[in-house]
Amino acid sequence: MSLVQEIDYGTPRSKAEKTITLTIDGQAMTVPEGTSIMRAAMEMGTKIPKLCATDMLDAFGSCRLCLVEIDGRPGTPASCTTPAANGMVVHTQTERLKRLRKGVMELYISEHPLDCLTCSANGDCELQDMAGAVGLREVRYGYGGARHPNPGLDESNPYFTYEPSKCIVCSRCVRACEEVQGTFALTIAGRGFGSVVSPGMEESFFSSECVSCGACVQACPTATLNEKSVIEIGTPEHSVVTTCAYCGVGCSFKAEMRGDEVVRMVPFKDGKANRGHSCVKGRFAWGYANHRERILKPMIREKITDPWREVSWQEAIGRVASEFKRIQAKYGPSSIGGITSSRCTDEETFLVQKLVRATFGNNNVDTCARVCHSPTGYGLSTTFGTSAGTQDFDSVEHTDVVVLIGANPTDAHPVFASRMKKRLRQGAKLIVIDPRQIDLVRTPHVAAAYHLPLRPGTNVAILSALAHVVVTEGLVNEKFVRERCDWDEFSDWAAFVSEPHNSPEAVAKISGVPAEAIRGAARLYATGGNGAIYYGLGVTEHSQGSTTVMAIANLAMATGNIGRPGVGVNPLRGQNNVQGSCDMGSFPHELSGYRHISNDATRAMFEALWGKPLEREPGLRIPNMLDAAVDGSFKGLYVQGEDILQSDPDTHHVSAGLAAMECVVVQDLFLNETANYAHVFLPGSTFLEKNGTFINAERRIQLVRKVMAPKNGYEDWEITCLISEAMGYPMHYDHPSQIMDEIAHLTPTFAGVSFKRIEELGSIQWPCNEKAPEGTPVMHINGFVRGKGKFVITEYVPTDERTGPRFPLLLTTGRILSQYNVGAQTRRTANVLWHEEDRLEIHPHDAEQRGIRDGDWVKLASRAGETALRALITERVAPGVVYTTFHHPNTQANVVTTEYSDWATNCPEYKVTAVQVARSNGPTHWQEEYDEMARNSRRIAATIEAAE
Ligand code: SF4
Ligand code: SF4
Ligand code: SF4
Ligand code: FES
Repeated sequence: MSLVQEIDYGTPRSKAEKTITLTIDGQAMTVPEGTSIMRAAMEMGTKIPKLCATDMLDAFGSCRLCLVEIDGRPGTPASCTTPAANGMVVHTQTERLKRLRKGVMELYISEHPLDCLTCSANGDCELQDMAGAVGLREVRYGYGGARHPNPGLDESNPYFTYEPSKCIVCSRCVRACEEVQGTFALTIAGRGFGSVVSPGMEESFFSSECVSCGACVQACPTATLNEKSVIEIGTPEHSVVTTCAYCGVGCSFKAEMRGDEVVRMVPFKDGKANRGHSCVKGRFAWGYANHRERILKPMIREKITDPWREVSWQEAIGRVASEFKRIQAKYGPSSIGGITSSRCTDEETFLVQKLVRATFGNNNVDTCARVCHSPTGYGLSTTFGTSAGTQDFDSVEHTDVVVLIGANPTDAHPVFASRMKKRLRQGAKLIVIDPRQIDLVRTPHVAAAYHLPLRPGTNVAILSALAHVVVTEGLVNEKFVRERCDWDEFSDWAAFVSEPHNSPEAVAKISGVPAEAIRGAARLYATGGNGAIYYGLGVTEHSQGSTTVMAIANLAMATGNIGRPGVGVNPLRGQNNVQGSCDMGSFPHELSGYRHISNDATRAMFEALWGKPLEREPGLRIPNMLDAAVDGSFKGLYVQGEDILQSDPDTHHVSAGLAAMECVVVQDLFLNETANYAHVFLPGSTFLEKNGTFINAERRIQLVRKVMAPKNGYEDWEITCLISEAMGYPMHYDHPSQIMDEIAHLTPTFAGVSFKRIEELGSIQWPCNEKAPEGTPVMHINGFVRGKGKFVITEYVPTDERTGPRFPLLLTTGRILSQYNVGAQTRRTANVLWHEEDRLEIHPHDAEQRGIRDGDWVKLASRAGETALRALITERVAPGVVYTTFHHPNTQANVVTTEYSDWATNCPEYKVTAVQVARSNGPTHWQEEYDEMARNSRRIAATIEAAE
């Protein structure tokens, strides 16, 4: 195995269709117009020396190393900044050029410390490479870089160091931060020989605006910015391309290794979702895989109050099988079920639902998507005919108006946010519909044209008001609607949204958003060119989540913003494989590809292949399983890679349900909160230890490749197979590719998918079949999947969760960049340095009324429960609204969330809870107990580690 080498062409690819032909060193070369001479030379295999250029960034032209000679032109222009032209004759190697380049390198080297042998970039340094490439043999101005400014080593960032003495001031880092990441955290301070890279106002990296995406580290051609892991372990010797296991962006990475140790994760330029970029989680937060709290041996116990006992895999699997069979014999076949994981691969998820349907003999399977994007499934299937986003991420490059509803991409989908910011800096307009002033409302060089800070729970009203403006002001794209949608349904909908109660003026009273802002936003979306809607859990996690998704679809159809690049309706999926877990048939009523279980022909296909009869009726959803457990009819649960106690609403109800079961089996990396109620713990494997596929928010199927053997002994799909076999239904697979073959055989939208095909194409966006053998980047181009687009009347119904004298504030929740969901992985990395605890954001007015100062402990109480956390006073939230993240188990924000849920899908209403906030002395009693328990388990883990 070797390192996967990606060619650096020096400047970005030109997207022009017109081509030109030039001659380089006597060889003709045809390239798209706008291509630099440097890139044209690289594409034909001629490397021109360079330092300040890299193909991730626009050409800058500062180092003067890439000089060329052009017939008929005076001087020696820089090849990175000079576009190739028709008929141009270029020379890259002449005596004059050699002399000039050596002179440039002499100056660089005289300014650079010559500790190459002990430098962490030795062997992986472009300065070294260029000294070799230009044939530098002596330096007339002395060595050692004594004159170079050296403000000292900055080790403040937990993942990388900044060693200014090695800086060649090429500005690649500064430009990467601006162009790729869009954070503008770096600047070049000083002048001439005194120039130096500086984060913010000469702060440390950690205390600056830096969000630790690592783009600057990747861009740096020297060891000036370098990963601490490289400094510690050494340069990598082989790499494996795989897919990030955090969010739904689905970034592609090269896992660069030494033996079976990960040295660093380098974003893969050929990754079509991320195009060589990443965020702090994917690039740096992989250390949890080696965390000492990771459980590597199976454990069992008789009662949940007993201590755990380590056992062999054989004994653990035997216990699972015998318990599940006993329970079914005693309480009936429907008394057990399973929960699939959106963190696991498609193949693993497919097998869990197969285990439930074929081995358990019922349809009691559900997934965590229940609590996030199930309304997307319902809403988009109803209106468009398929349960997925309509676009690829590249589409945003063609968007003129971005509408962002209930999503906070800079925190939750950071790499896509960077691409979106780039488009906004190019001039696209932005409308943000969110109760909070998220970063994108105003961030360097980006300002939203409209921010509609609606009262939580009023999404549908606002969308109806936007539609009201579109219809009543004659902004409907009638041609699109007549050709592509059901006209009668449209007419009914148009009449409905035109009613006075849907006018911006009426909705302003409900939502708190001024009518003029609603009107302005509607006009901009309808008339501003290509309009694309991106939305997140702020849309779905409501009692009207499915209604909101349909209202979004209505608006897009009415304005003709569907079916071409630059437009569309795009759910930003939360977890890495939440799209895949839904696609794989994880819901109780659907087989893979969203086909209803009651469809006889579909079921017959599965029955024929699986050799088992399948139940016709849908099984239980997660909340129904818990209800049934409390009622005594549901007794056994297999939970793969989920922590329902922490992630599901109304914690008290979840714990009561789990406690009422006789056999809870948890398969995970760590003893999570749900495992407190488990009888069997099966250690899971990380994404680094398995093969399979994930599907991101663009429907993109990408390979997850094993970079090391599973530390627990098995990949997760193998464990599911072991359980099934022990229960009497062997599943015969040697490799996950065979599971994907089965998925493709049984699922029309995946018919053309195989591991081999994904290897060939890099990734595939479903549908992929005979009609679309290379997949489908943009959906509904010539017609909707369901035929005619369906307009649905979306009447606003206020949630039953109301504020009142006891609970006068509305709580809404969200994520922060450095953490991921319940934090099981990110809390076990240095990412905690950015977010050590969940805080309650409260408006200064509400804080003052309650005598709360910044940093005070406050009690957060709802009618469901109470917790305590510290206050953060900020105007990011409007008066009357409070906000918190849910990454730390000792906060358990879900203790206060209620049992209300989406009318169609049961997706919990996380985003609206009526609460009261009051000063308190510290954590509640249960939090203190929890902290003590956590301290004990850390002590035990440390003792075991020391003994080993
Ligand atoms: S890590 Fe990212 S955000 Fe921080 S300075 Fe580098 S490029 Fe900018
Ligand atoms: S830190 Fe690296 S990328 Fe930035 S200017 Fe210095 S050498 Fe160039
Ligand atoms: S967490 Fe999301 S944005 Fe960050 S690297 Fe992973 S997939 Fe990309
Ligand atoms: S690479 Fe062209 S000027 Fe630096």
